[in-house]
Amino acid sequence: MAISLHNSTNISRVGFASPFLGSNSASKVSISVSLPSFSNLSFKSVETSSQQLYRISAMSKAESSSSDQVKVDISLSPRVNSVKPSKTVAITDHATALAQAGVPVIRLAAGEPDFDTPAIIAEAGINAIREGYTRYSPNAGTLELRTAICHKLKEENGISYTPDQIVVSNGAKQSILQAVLAVCSPGDEVIIPAPYWVSYPEMARLADATPVILPTLISDNFLLDPELLESNITEKSRLLILCSPSNPTGSVYPKKLLEKIAEIVAKHPRLLVLSDEIYEHIIYAPAAHTSFASLPGMWERTLTVNGFSKAFAMTGWRLGYIAGPKNFIAACNKIQSQSTSGASSIAQKAGVAALGLGYAGGEVVSTMVKAFRERRDFLVKSFGELEGVKISEPQGAFYLFIDFSSYYGIEVEGFGKIENSESLCRYLLDKGQVALVPGDAFGDDSCIRISYAASLTTLQASFERIKKALISLRPAVPV
Ligand SMILES: Cc1ncc(COP(=O)(O)O)c(C=O)c1O
Repeated sequence: MAISLHNSTNISRVGFASPFLGSNSASKVSISVSLPSFSNLSFKSVETSSQQLYRISAMSKAESSSSDQVKVDISLSPRVNSVKPSKTVAITDHATALAQAGVPVIRLAAGEPDFDTPAIIAEAGINAIREGYTRYSPNAGTLELRTAICHKLKEENGISYTPDQIVVSNGAKQSILQAVLAVCSPGDEVIIPAPYWVSYPEMARLADATPVILPTLISDNFLLDPELLESNITEKSRLLILCSPSNPTGSVYPKKLLEKIAEIVAKHPRLLVLSDEIYEHIIYAPAAHTSFASLPGMWERTLTVNGFSKAFAMTGWRLGYIAGPKNFIAACNKIQSQSTSGASSIAQKAGVAALGLGYAGGEVVSTMVKAFRERRDFLVKSFGELEGVKISEPQGAFYLFIDFSSYYGIEVEGFGKIENSESLCRYLLDKGQVALVPGDAFGDDSCIRISYAASLTTLQASFERIKKALISLRPAVPV
């Protein structure tokens, strides 16, 4: 019997099927239930009907005597308290609220492609339902999908895995969290170059590990300086997280730099690498993607994460995966078996279709990448002409991480002081009606992230709005 209890004295509706009551009987049963955490509740009666839907009224002793009310302990675990709420979500919620109030806000804060899932992939999902692929799937993912992933990793990335070295999850996000939980012990250090994807440090904290943030420079295209890495490795360093192409900067690590990093990593037997390659296909030639695990000696210590959300415009399908040495992957599999179990059977059929599109997603993906490239070129050129703005041209993903810090410190009448990336974003939302994400959320307060997962027309309009808002902020600046 399942009873859901709300923080109220009346349990309004409880559904359960009793094997003891005949379907035609309309009986009245008195039940006394003793519940440790709701000890002030006593059940008065259960009325049954032929539908076996029961309405239970619970009467609180508090109704008759308010003196012995039990106060619920609402404290949370220190682990949760150490995790920061997502600023991306906060700004998105604010923008949504404005839009719902009728303000014509342009939203460039979301990290998802504006394209629909390609028809051929969507059809595979629809067919999966029609053909009855609607049951639990194996915890690690269907053999069909894991085999297709192995094939993709071999052909496109030059790394060999067997299906038992792959775990498919509900999105790459779950794969990353499980990996961090699987390999980090309390007190371990997780090295994260900044700007970073918002979730990495928080995932480290959820594993009781310590994020060690290594800053990068816009003048170095936000790429990690190997010397800085080397000088920050300690005996507690357990995991280095690399993301290329990067969210939020769009930077792509050149192979030569990855090789230098690999040389340093190789000196430290405890240090593993989580290589987040989810934007792999959204890359602008001549930039090229290198899988960290393909570098000499790195396979044994690398956990490669990838997924379907970005390249295949499948954010809502929730499908990602991790590949790595068997013992780490088995641990990820174990965590998943005790949390969500296997990913959606329908999404996995769609995933097989996505990987069947050919090398790097074939023409379907290259058409989307072409559109992203056009938008990037437009924005880089436009913002590049604005005074007081620093840009590093992104080589991949669909974000621009722009340094607007020369606008900080300005007092705006009726708004207050623009102090940091957060207040500048609020100003641009209020004044320009464009929703962007403060760089602070990604560990670099001098910048703001613009997601160009929007049509060129929308981006042109956004640029005009941002430019106008900035001009009114600093009228003396020639633009
Ligand atoms: C860098 C990076 N990694 C992982 C993810 C997770 O993607 P998903 O869980 O949708 O597969 C995202 C999504 O925004 C991302 O930007």
